[in-house]
Amino acid sequence: MVKKAMPNFIMNQIHSYKRAAGLKKDAEEFSKLETVACDASNLRSAHGISLSSILNSDTIEAQWAQSKKEIEKFTIPGNTGGVNYGDRRAIYYLINYFKPQTILEIGTHIGASTLNIASALYHSQVKQGNKVDFTTLDIRDVNCTKTKPWLDYGTKYSPLEMIENFNYDSFVTFISNTSLEFLSKNDKQYDFIFLDGDHSQATVYKEVPLALSRLKKNGVILLHDYFPNSKPLWSNGTVIYGPHVAVERLIKEGADLVVLPLGELPWPTKLDSNVTSLALLMRKSD
Ligand SMILES: C[S@@+](CC[C@H](N)C(=O)[O-])C[C@H]1O[C@@H](n2cnc3c(N)ncnc32)[C@H](O)[C@@H]1O
Repeated sequence: MVKKAMPNFIMNQIHSYKRAAGLKKDAEEFSKLETVACDASNLRSAHGISLSSILNSDTIEAQWAQSKKEIEKFTIPGNTGGVNYGDRRAIYYLINYFKPQTILEIGTHIGASTLNIASALYHSQVKQGNKVDFTTLDIRDVNCTKTKPWLDYGTKYSPLEMIENFNYDSFVTFISNTSLEFLSKNDKQYDFIFLDGDHSQATVYKEVPLALSRLKKNGVILLHDYFPNSKPLWSNGTVIYGPHVAVERLIKEGADLVVLPLGELPWPTKLDSNVTSLALLMRKSD
């Protein structure tokens, strides 16, 4: 009741104090972490990757047009924690281009990226008779039918309901677990891993080496919320530090890594811009 009566500027002030305290705690924990071994030998090399040709591919655009019509019936909102519409399209293009057979997503949330990855897999591979296997994981039970968490984020259907609607459940599996536990206990290897879970410096610093150890030869890692040089990407001035700070530390400690931020997309993303925080994590050496 008290919360509801509070003016917006006080709520905003409380929110920024909480955020600052969280960032301080994360930075302290991060600075105390011992160096983690990071073997990037299975990661695909950045050499020969042209983001511009992937994002401007006419073939992928034709498939996207078809998927978009199907997916849009679910009207998954773009501002309640799921990746924005422009990022969904970029992820679709990457999946379509790399054609991974085994895929892991960390951070299902409302399933915005999940549905786009599944649709890209279906149209570029499953329809042609190729076998694919897509696991999406979240620390929460995102499909809990008792609490229906998706309703809190303005979407009518659970990620599972959307996936089942297209019969994509034949190749999509949902898991509730923490990324670190899943990556360290499971020994399955993946062609493509999308990291969009806990964005704290401490978790990403441990998550990336574990994800690398789960990659098949020439596998790909896609990061979300990567802010190059820890600088704001949009006019709102927000920065999420974890992915950039953690990856920079791994590189300083000798990991054979390079980050390719997708930068400006050929279509809109958010806040009247075409800018994305998506970035490919690739091997630096040939
Ligand atoms: C930004 S949201 C992901 C958005 C999602 N990709 C989409 O497009 O709808 C981050 C999600 O990561 C989950 N998460 C946070 N920490 C995690 C962890 N340590 N392991 C697994 N999932 C985590 C959160 O519960 C949240 O649902």
